[in-house]
Amino acid sequence: MTTLTINGQVHTVDAPPDMPLLWVLRDLVGLTGTKFGCGIAQCGACTVHLDGVAVRSCVLPVAAVGDQKVTTIEAVGETPAGKKVQTAWRQLDVVQCGYCQSGQVMSAASLLASNPNPSDADIDTAMAGNICRCGTYNRIRVAIKQAAKEA
Ligand code: FES
Ligand code: FES
Repeated sequence: MTTLTINGQVHTVDAPPDMPLLWVLRDLVGLTGTKFGCGIAQCGACTVHLDGVAVRSCVLPVAAVGDQKVTTIEAVGETPAGKKVQTAWRQLDVVQCGYCQSGQVMSAASLLASNPNPSDADIDTAMAGNICRCGTYNRIRVAIKQAAKEA
């Protein structure tokens, strides 16, 4: 049994130690907002936070989480940076098909939490691992800047 703190709640799950956190979240805990894209840390769809830092849950064995706090898209709006990001996302209508957007929001929220006034280069670096097949990159950049102004 593994005990995890996810979105402020303690969960005990019966998962093999090498099971990726993504599948623990989706299949054992029922938090399906975090998406599966590539499974090899190349697309960012599965991004969650560990103690506020963006990580790729598809390649993170659940045993490596330890007592770090997991935050997913379902609760990132309760953090100051996540709330600002989601507000800007809605105001600027960033989303197209939506599949990549949980991961985009999680990466953007982690960026703003650590760097409230990111430069264009900071944004490009932080968001480089989040792929969007719909090409919403320009709206994402504008939305991050708008969220930073609110910070
Ligand atoms: S599903 Fe994890 S990075 Fe693509
Ligand atoms: S909004 Fe469709 S993949 Fe990003």
